[in-house]
Amino acid sequence: MKALVAYFSISGITAGTAKSIAEAVNGDLFEIVPEKPYTRGDVNWMNPISRCNREMMGKKDVPVSGRVGNMEDYVIIFVGFPIWYGCAPNVVNTFLKGYDLSGKKIAVFATSGGSGIGKTAEKLAPYVSGAEILDAKVFKTAGDAAKWAADLI
Ligand SMILES: Cc1cc2nc3c(=O)[nH]c(=O)nc-3n(C[C@H](O)[C@H](O)[C@H](O)COP(=O)(O)O)c2cc1C
Repeated sequence: MKALVAYFSISGITAGTAKSIAEAVNGDLFEIVPEKPYTRGDVNWMNPISRCNREMMGKKDVPVSGRVGNMEDYVIIFVGFPIWYGCAPNVVNTFLKGYDLSGKKIAVFATSGGSGIGKTAEKLAPYVSGAEILDAKVFKTAGDAAKWAADLI
């Protein structure tokens, strides 16, 4: 199964996990980068008026820089991100909305400061309509994530 590993990461933790998954499944990597990069202040999640807080609370679209030009080639897409306020950052939703993913398999992986996966998969479902979400998990180590991914392929 040809795999894409699409991920968003601010401080590099999810990026490391994504790279291990891509190696484990021999997949292609795509970094989801917002058109307008986040500054340090933007991602201060304790500040109720920081950019990330306003985006998440307002359920705002966050435009993505660049595109996956060959999405039709992939059978399975691993989608990774840090948990933000208990779910996926809006830029991930905006990324997913930009493609026809019907018939594809989606595997969701996340890193967090301690939160579990919660209702992350249910909340992502509207943005991947027609696709099947195989699983969604928070990982503490890149090694655990790589094993999980290899078993899904
Ligand atoms: C805006 C924002 C919101 C966050 N919300 C949560 C949260 O609800 N629960 C949690 O356990 N960690 C939360 N975190 C911490 C990140 O999920 C965690 O540090 C993650 O591993 C960072 O991944 P990255 O290095 O790929 O950006 C939040 C971090 C940020 C910047």
